[in-house]
Amino acid sequence: MNRRFYKLWLLITAIAFLLQTGVTQAKDVDWAALNPDLVGADLVEDTSECLECHEEYIKSYAKTKHGRRLSGDCEACHGPMSKHIDSPNLKPVPAISYKPTSRLSSDQKNSVCLQCHEGGGQMYWQGGVHEANKVSCNSCHYLMERNSDRSLTIREDMATICTGCHVEKRGQMLKSSHMPVREGKMGCSDCHNPHGSYAPQLLRAATVNETCYQCHPEKRGPFLWEHAPVRDDCSSCHDSHGSNNPGMLRNKGAFLCMSCHQYGEHSNVPGYNRASATVGQGCINCHNRVHGSNHPSGAKFTR
Ligand code: HEC
Ligand code: HEC
Ligand code: HEC
Ligand code: HEC
Ligand code: HEC
Ligand code: HEC
Ligand code: HEC
Ligand code: HEC
Ligand code: HEC
Ligand code: HEC
Repeated sequence: MNRRFYKLWLLITAIAFLLQTGVTQAKDVDWAALNPDLVGADLVEDTSECLECHEEYIKSYAKTKHGRRLSGDCEACHGPMSKHIDSPNLKPVPAISYKPTSRLSSDQKNSVCLQCHEGGGQMYWQGGVHEANKVSCNSCHYLMERNSDRSLTIREDMATICTGCHVEKRGQMLKSSHMPVREGKMGCSDCHNPHGSYAPQLLRAATVNETCYQCHPEKRGPFLWEHAPVRDDCSSCHDSHGSNNPGMLRNKGAFLCMSCHQYGEHSNVPGYNRASATVGQGCINCHNRVHGSNHPSGAKFTR
């Protein structure tokens, strides 16, 4: 490769890498402001000082991305350690603690992480619904050991991370018709960004429909004959998580349609009667192109 191009290539890969990970430079942190116990504590900057008592954590931590990228710098998250080294039995430990017993608020704990993670996927954390509800980074992540293959989440199975708090979603995912989350074909985070989003409901895409089109592009159309609610919002008919009606529908058969339509002008339709329209597949026996039609005479979604 030509030398100039090689340099350019290096620059582009470096920028692409930074954009992809979104990890930014750590700022200078006022540790004593986060935890007054750290007044007068200095950086030790030597992990070998910790080995004697924390060998287990040091080893498991070394296998994580932090361990590799921050080369064992414990103090990047726990603050200056000289006081702790001088009196290891002092309680509470003069350190930034993330444990449930910690006296730090979730905002204070999170601010340490956000020094380096305020971009990328975490860009919308501030003001997001989890931030506003005092959820901490370590409600979902465990950093001292790899408990999952992906993103140091507290458990491998993502759905159970979320349903620990969102109990009703566990129930929905157990219904007969549901998104294939428990089958492991997708995770909650295929549709949601748990860190925050510019869109409503922590959705990754701008709207409900844009979220669904990512995997069901054939529903995007455009169709010659559009069905207004399909254009508008898939969730007016489907429950995005699960339902006991076939096709994750919010309502059974004809009742779904009749929540917006009266029976329609059916007096001239051969084979139609109110009783037959409400059994089995109901209205979609005839209106089988309910998402839209491209047939020249499909205005009523019957073909
Ligand atoms: C002489 C032993 C000893 C040494 C050396 C030592 N520690 Fe500790 N450390 C302890 C003890 C004891 C605890 C308290 C454990 C507990 O509360 O269960 C502790 C707790 C901690 C905690 C948990 C604080 C919390 O409550 O969440 C962190 C973080 C920590 N040490 C980091 C370090 C780091 C980093 C070093 C090296 C710079 C280090 N320690 C060196 C003995 C030591
Ligand atoms: C990238 C941030 C980060 C770095 C770097 C880091 N830790 Fe931790 N550490 C945490 C978090 C978060 C927790 C809380 C874990 C939890 O959820 O209970 C923790 C917990 C601990 C604990 C308490 C263990 C427990 O769970 O009760 C010890 C001890 C500890 N860390 C030691 C260290 C040592 C030693 C190093 C350096 C080798 C280090 N940490 C580097 C984030 C970090
Ligand atoms: C000093 C900077 C720094 C701090 C502080 C920091 N991180 Fe990181 N974090 C990094 C770097 C660098 C990476 C690796 C990025 C990469 O290689 O893609 C990373 C990666 C991660 C990952 C992805 C791990 C993986 O295996 O894919 C998670 C999750 C994470 N950090 C969470 C946290 C949390 C939670 C905290 C606070 C307790 C925190 N970080 C504090 C720099 C930091
Ligand atoms: C509600 C649960 C939850 C909370 C709270 C949370 N995360 Fe995550 N995080 C996840 C999940 C799930 C993934 C994996 C996403 C995926 O792979 O699709 C992830 C992935 C990551 C990654 C790696 C991939 C990426 O998006 O960059 C980083 C870094 C990260 N989280 C940092 C943080 C930080 C920093 C905080 C706190 C400010 C935090 N997380 C809070 C659930 C959470
Ligand atoms: C530690 C508890 C906790 C965990 C774990 C958790 N959440 Fe949440 N989540 C909350 C709270 C609290 C709210 C706000 C109140 C509510 O709407 O229930 C919330 C709200 C939400 C909302 C509604 C957003 C809105 O704008 O109304 C979504 C979507 C969401 N969480 C998705 C997730 C996903 C996906 C995961 C797993 C990656 C997850 N949550 C894990 C506590 C949690
Ligand atoms: C196929 C995409 C998709 C998947 C997968 C998904 N969601 Fe959602 N979620 C949505 C959409 C769309 C909305 C907003 C419209 C609605 O409520 O139907 C939403 C809304 C929410 C809300 C807030 C409103 C409410 O119903 O309480 C929570 C909380 C939530 N989801 C949690 C989860 C959890 C937890 C998981 C994983 C078990 C998950 N979601 C998986 C698409 C999805
Ligand atoms: C990440 C990809 C993905 C996204 C995003 C997604 N889906 Fe799906 N969807 C699937 C998969 C995979 C299946 C299962 C297909 C199968 O098993 O044949 C499915 C199945 C369905 C089914 C049929 C369920 C059944 O029981 O017959 C409906 C209805 C559906 N999705 C609606 C939606 C809606 C509405 C949205 C937006 C809120 C959405 N999907 C977003 C991947 C996705
Ligand atoms: C007017 C109500 C309605 C709206 C709005 C709607 N659907 Fe449907 N959808 C249905 C009905 C009815 C079925 C058939 C269910 C069955 O198989 O019994 C269905 C089935 C599906 C299926 C599974 C079978 C197939 O056709 O692939 C998917 C996937 C689907 N819809 C996705 C979507 C998406 C994506 C949107 C938004 C763009 C959407 N739907 C909007 C009524 C609706
Ligand atoms: C959320 C409300 C809603 C639901 C549910 C709904 N529709 Fe519609 N539908 C509409 C609207 C709005 C129009 C457009 C009416 C117009 O243009 O005058 C429409 C148009 C139609 C048309 C064409 C009517 C015409 O005058 O050309 C048919 C046929 C139709 N819907 C059938 C169905 C069937 C079958 C179902 C059930 C699977 C259903 N709809 C569910 C709101 C809904
Ligand atoms: C046996 C077949 C059949 C069944 C079952 C059926 N439809 Fe229709 N529907 C039609 C046909 C054919 C038309 C077109 C009539 C026309 O163009 O004059 C139509 C027209 C409509 C229209 C448009 C009326 C208009 O003003 O143009 C609506 C709305 C509608 N149906 C809704 C429904 C609903 C809701 C159900 C279920 C309760 C249903 N249909 C069941 C065959 C059926």
